[in-house]
Amino acid sequence: MARPKVYVTRIIPEPGLSILKECCDVEVHPSKELPPSRQELLEKVRDKDGLLCLLTDKIDREVFDAAPNLKVVSTYSVGFDHIDVAEATRRGIYVTHTPGVLTDAVAEFTVGLILAVTRRIVEADKLIRSGGWDKPWHPYFLTGPELKGKTIGLIGLGRIGVAVAKRLSSFDVRILYYDIERRWDVETVLNIQYADIDTILRESDIVSLHVPLTKDTYHLINEERLRKMKKTAYLINTARGAVVDTEALVKALKEGWIAGAALDVFEQEPLPPSHPLTRFENVVLTPHIASATIEARQRMAELAAKNLVAVLKGEMPPALVNKEVLSVRPLEKVKMI
Ligand code: GLV
Repeated sequence: MARPKVYVTRIIPEPGLSILKECCDVEVHPSKELPPSRQELLEKVRDKDGLLCLLTDKIDREVFDAAPNLKVVSTYSVGFDHIDVAEATRRGIYVTHTPGVLTDAVAEFTVGLILAVTRRIVEADKLIRSGGWDKPWHPYFLTGPELKGKTIGLIGLGRIGVAVAKRLSSFDVRILYYDIERRWDVETVLNIQYADIDTILRESDIVSLHVPLTKDTYHLINEERLRKMKKTAYLINTARGAVVDTEALVKALKEGWIAGAALDVFEQEPLPPSHPLTRFENVVLTPHIASATIEARQRMAELAAKNLVAVLKGEMPPALVNKEVLSVRPLEKVKMI
């Protein structure tokens, strides 16, 4: 049998590429940082059986039309909002992702953002560098709220939400959560309480978002909901930029409806330095790096490669997104290796 042909849209960490190369002919876009152009992507997938992409590659009908042999799209990310999954399923294309392996990295980062924005760590660092530490120690300098005793609202309680709750429990806070599924098991173990979104917004001192981006979560945090938050509350987003209506958030910050925000994801990425969000001292901005531990990025590469190879071997991949595809094109019909 001929070896399957695979296209990888960026140089991903080892052992990802080695796993692919063991059994596939692999073509890698020769950059660690930049994606292929749209035209290049459409040309490269033409004869490919597998595609390993990143969250910056839009994988839609046009890509599927250009790739008549495509059997699997394996994304190097847990989120898959950049892929038209329904269309892939209709065409019998397997879609896989990398859940679990970045959970701890994102949860650790979320706690970091909460502390950074409430305790004004970034603002303090900038102040020293710009010569603003010009008075001796005094009681009012760069104060912020203590976490202990506060209410933290988690919107979305999947793997990452649970991992955040687990870490925050040690801060002696009250934790509320909302999810489309009630998580009775986690409620008891972690001593957290279920609440609807509006209750969370009204009662929480910190609201942290952990939902995937879908048509139901697009602009979930809009003007009406931002107005429900406490004036002293902070919004944390490590999920997807479009879960928050950015324009409404800018208005909320400008008019003081909330105390601040820490954002790792944006509707527009990269966020230009001229963006209104960059003008607020009470906002911490990071460039979509919540999963950026060396360990997580390696494990993501390994899992993305294993997912892709499994499908081409006709085996169940470790993390399949579209289970319905199994009946559209059963695994034995995909088997090439
Ligand atoms: C990162 O945002 C991911 O979805 O893995």
